Amino acid sequence: MLKRTLLCALLGLLRAQSLPCPRACKCVYRDSVQCSGVSVAGIAELGLPTNLTHILLSRMGRGALQSHSFRGMTVLQRLMITDSHISAIAPGAFNDLIKLKTLRLSHNKITHLPGALLDKMLLLEQLFLDRNALGSLDQSMFQKLVNLQELFLNQNQLTFLPARLFTNLGNLKLLDVSGNNLTHLPKGLLGAQAKLKKLLLQSNQLVSLDAELLSSLGALSELRLDGNRLRSIAPGAFDRLQNLGSLTLSRNQLEFLPAGLFLHSRNLTLLTLFENPLAELPEVLFGELAGLQELWLNCTQLRALPAAVFRNLSRLRALGVTQSPRLSALPQGAFRGLGELQQLALHANGLDALPDGLLRGLARLRHVSLRHNRLRTLPRALFHNLSSLETVQLDHNQLETLPGDLFGALPRLTEVLLGHNPWLCDCDLRPFVGWLQQHPDLQSQAEPPRCRVPGPHAGGAARGSGGA
Ligand SMILES: *[C@@H]1O[C@H](CO)[C@@H](O)[C@H](O)[C@H]1NC(C)=O
Ligand SMILES: *[C@@H]1O[C@H](CO)[C@@H](O)[C@H](O)[C@H]1NC(C)=O
Ligand SMILES: *[C@@H]1O[C@H](CO)[C@@H](O)[C@H](O)[C@H]1NC(C)=O
Ligand SMILES: *[C@@H]1O[C@H](CO)[C@@H](O)[C@H](O)[C@H]1NC(C)=O
Ligand SMILES: *[C@@H]1O[C@H](CO)[C@@H](O)[C@H](O)[C@H]1NC(C)=O
Ligand SMILES: *[C@@H]1O[C@H](CO)[C@@H](O)[C@H](O)[C@H]1NC(C)=O
Repeated sequence: MLKRTLLCALLGLLRAQSLPCPRACKCVYRDSVQCSGVSVAGIAELGLPTNLTHILLSRMGRGALQSHSFRGMTVLQRLMITDSHISAIAPGAFNDLIKLKTLRLSHNKITHLPGALLDKMLLLEQLFLDRNALGSLDQSMFQKLVNLQELFLNQNQLTFLPARLFTNLGNLKLLDVSGNNLTHLPKGLLGAQAKLKKLLLQSNQLVSLDAELLSSLGALSELRLDGNRLRSIAPGAFDRLQNLGSLTLSRNQLEFLPAGLFLHSRNLTLLTLFENPLAELPEVLFGELAGLQELWLNCTQLRALPAAVFRNLSRLRALGVTQSPRLSALPQGAFRGLGELQQLALHANGLDALPDGLLRGLARLRHVSLRHNRLRTLPRALFHNLSSLETVQLDHNQLETLPGDLFGALPRLTEVLLGHNPWLCDCDLRPFVGWLQQHPDLQSQAEPPRCRVPGPHAGGAARGSGGA
């Protein structure tokens, strides 16, 4: 007890000695302070000691950072002024911060940065300027930041970036420019970024991607381009990106993709292409992408698929080609070779028939959704030998009849959805109804198939006798 009291007193003494903590602040560690609530313009009046290494300011009142706000703070390593109302920064405000490694000015109202503002920060490693109102940047803004590793410019209002903006940032590993209004990126913009690993360009207004832009980015592992207005991508645009593991191209305006676009992207484990008005796919698009387990092509304008377009994706576990109302037919061998496939989603297309051997060889297939198409019937052998098959969704089609042995010998089958089809209850359907009666547990009770035309089971559910 006494020991503890002594220790507390000693700590208190140390704290009191190292700095008299300003009223708006907490001085938790010896050389760091956290303050909030005062005006941005009044930072100098807080009387912070100049030998601090960490300053964290948040929720500060509206104002401009003054040229003397941080005067003499030559040992400061980390400065964060976030979620505040910084409206402007005076030239020279950071001139003494020669040891700074992290500067975080996220979520303020900064519209403009004075030229040379960062020129003394030769050691800076992380710069956060995200969630401000920056409309443009001077081309020499970052010229001295040769040690910068992470740069966040996301969620601003940038409409263009000067070609030489990143020229001296040879150590950059992460660049986030997402959520701006960029329509084009100038030639040579990323010529110096040989170490860049993450490039985030999503949620801009980019309309095209030329081959040269990415050609120096040999270390890149993540590239996000989703949510732009891309209409075209140059052939070979990704060929140099030997380490690319993740590429998002979804939610753009792509109608066509160049032949062989992903032929050299051997390391891809994530690729998104969905929600593009793709009108067709080239015969050869993918190389052997051994790490790709999932691919979704939903919301397209595809009318057809090239016969072998997925042939190289032998490790896929889930494939979706959905919500493409113009897609009325699939080629015979569309899914051949996809021996690992577990989920195949083909719902909400315009399919009116399926080829015989469409699912042949898909030994691991567990879930097939074909709902919301225009299927009238199905080939007898469609599901044969698919010994892993568990669920099949066939509801909301134009099915009038099905072969009696469609689902014969499928040991794992647990659910078949059949509702909302115009069943024709005649002799042809009888074998299938017989099979259904033998497997009452498979039926979803919510949607029993009902006869469209009165037949032997007039007015009742097709599966049972008279509405039972
Ligand atoms: C910082 O300066 C104050 C005097 O302003 C001094 O008491 C304190 O020991 C110094 N702290 C460090 C970590 O050098
Ligand atoms: C940026 O784009 C948004 C949405 O498209 C728009 O509201 C805003 O006015 C644009 N800003 C500039 C500076 O162009
Ligand atoms: C990418 O693939 C190459 C071989 O093609 C391999 O040496 C490298 O380690 C892979 N990189 C990643 C990040 O997986
Ligand atoms: C499969 O990938 C190889 C390269 O690994 C390529 O030569 C071939 O054209 C591709 N085939 C298809 C059908 O995409
Ligand atoms: C398309 O598929 C992706 C991936 O599954 C999903 O995130 C997205 O919401 C889908 N789009 C629509 C409109 O359903
Ligand atoms: C199912 O497997 C048997 C035996 O391997 C084979 O004879 C038959 O052709 C296969 N059926 C289909 C539709 O693949």
